[in-house]
Amino acid sequence: MKQKKDRFSPQDVKIEILNIGHNLTEFRSYEQELTDFLLEDSLNNQNQKISITFLWFYKGTLVSYITLLTDKINLEGNLKQFFREKDIHYKALPALKIGRLCVDDNYLRLGLGKLMVLFAIKKANEISTQKAGCRFLTLDAKRNKDKEKDSIHFYKKLGFKILKKRKKGTTPMYLDLKIP
Ligand SMILES: CC(C)(COP(=O)(O)OP(=O)(O)OC[C@H]1O[C@@H](n2cnc3c(N)ncnc32)[C@H](O)[C@@H]1OP(=O)(O)O)[C@@H](O)C(=O)NCCC(=O)NCCS
Repeated sequence: MKQKKDRFSPQDVKIEILNIGHNLTEFRSYEQELTDFLLEDSLNNQNQKISITFLWFYKGTLVSYITLLTDKINLEGNLKQFFREKDIHYKALPALKIGRLCVDDNYLRLGLGKLMVLFAIKKANEISTQKAGCRFLTLDAKRNKDKEKDSIHFYKKLGFKILKKRKKGTTPMYLDLKIP
């Protein structure tokens, strides 16, 4: 296992698209729903063209995963105003969504979460420069009473903004890929 000060760099990991041959049973997260998704739904969703799951391995061990799918943001309030001022009058704009993002409990706070967000930004930029328009990265952040485990703070630190404040459940957030 990595030592606390020894943060991950992109060269440390091997990234593979999920397939039926992968063994996922050792993966553990304090967010049980994210372990369950990986084991029970990720492959089926991928086969149904709903999402793609990227598995991150360190020395053969599955240390984290990220699931991506397409999305859109409905322009309302300040965001609508922001685009109106640029003479952009669409009701919605295209996005890439981080459907799930999870680091194994044994590898938390070693930089993997941040690297996976950077990976998603890279994918979104590849899409928008080579394949189809994609203005935002979106996600629904999981809340946790324990501040150390509340992912909203993690995403805010990486530049994401809250799209809609909600009292219960997840919080929709976005990153504008045009703003450096
Ligand atoms: C949220 C999660 C992905 C963060 O991954 P991680 O690998 O532990 O985070 P990193 O080491 O990449 O942290 C990057 C930065 O965010 C900070 N950070 C991480 N988690 C944080 C939190 N809960 N609150 C505030 N800051 C946080 C780190 O201190 C680090 O800051 P630094 O760059 O200034 O040192 C991980 O805790 C996780 O998998 N949680 C369970 C699943 C989950 O909540 N997923 C998100 C739901 S969509």
